[in-house]
Amino acid sequence: MPTQVRIVEVGPRDGLQNEKSMVATADKIALIDRLSATGLQSIEATSFVSPKWVPQLADAAEVYAGITRREGVHYPVLVPNEKGYERAREVGVEEIAVFTAASEAFNRKNINASIDESLQRFAPVMERARADGVKVRGYVSTVLGCPYQGAVPLADVVRVAHALHDMGCYEISLGDTIGVGTPGKARAMLKAVAAEVPLSALAVHFHDTWGQALANILACLEEGVAVVDAAVSGTGGCPYAKGASGNVATEDVVYMLHGLGIGTGIDLDALADTGRWLSTVLGRDSGSKVAKALAAA
Ligand code: HMG
Ligand code: MG
Repeated sequence: MPTQVRIVEVGPRDGLQNEKSMVATADKIALIDRLSATGLQSIEATSFVSPKWVPQLADAAEVYAGITRREGVHYPVLVPNEKGYERAREVGVEEIAVFTAASEAFNRKNINASIDESLQRFAPVMERARADGVKVRGYVSTVLGCPYQGAVPLADVVRVAHALHDMGCYEISLGDTIGVGTPGKARAMLKAVAAEVPLSALAVHFHDTWGQALANILACLEEGVAVVDAAVSGTGGCPYAKGASGNVATEDVVYMLHGLGIGTGIDLDALADTGRWLSTVLGRDSGSKVAKALAAA
């Protein structure tokens, strides 16, 4: 197991993209600024996708321009194509994430493209990012199951992860978009990808729809993965993945990691405070058991 884990906080993007209530731009900015004060080093701030597809994040430029950038914190944003890249660069974005899936059916619904078309779409983005010194992370969705096609062959996950790494993504996040995976399958998936892409370039991204996220993360930690995506308060899901509930809650992941003696650099109390504040903004219960337990303690 690693001694240190980097958490990529995806709440402001993956969380808020799928919340029913529209969150005010000022609250999104406040969320990111609160998160950057907790010791998190990577905060996915927003998404420069089509506002017709994801209206919740239509204010991406205003959000990004409004945050107070903290030294040492990275603020990646989602970019689906060159248009998104241009919008992001206009407000000074220095790190982006491109995203595709291991399932053809899911990609069609999510980005209106096949896997190969999506990779072709990324090529000019990667080229411009390289020239501009912009770091690029890559996501592979539906690595343990697809809401439309069902099972996803491991070979497809490996092929797509490998392709993103070859294109120049410094890190590949393996996403269980609908949270159907179980620990043995998560471990086997990670091992298969790690045979082709260095483990140090891999991250895991679990949604907690079936309550398996922490167990899956533990299995992947045992395989040596040292980067974990999570969303404060367990918000979110994917608007184009029916039934996908929230990401694993960051508070729960941090509590587990600290309990295992693994460092994160994150102040759990400050993080839980932020999660409770977010729940108030969203007018709903926190998705984090740890946040609730801390509040009751
Ligand atoms: P399309 O309709 O096929 O593309 O969408 P298009 O190029 O024909 O564009 C349609 C309209 O959108 C045009 O406007 C474009 O200008 C505009 P119109 O001419 O009709 O007025 N447009 C844009 N506007 C602003 N920014 C842009 C942009 N691009 C086009 N970047 C497209 C293709 C990829 C754009 C669309 O499908 C899209 O935006 N999809 C995003 C879906 C999404 O964000 N899903 C959630 C994120 S993925 C996820 O959550 C999974 C993850 O968490 C990992 C996991 O859990 O597995 C990452
Ligand atoms: Mg996700």
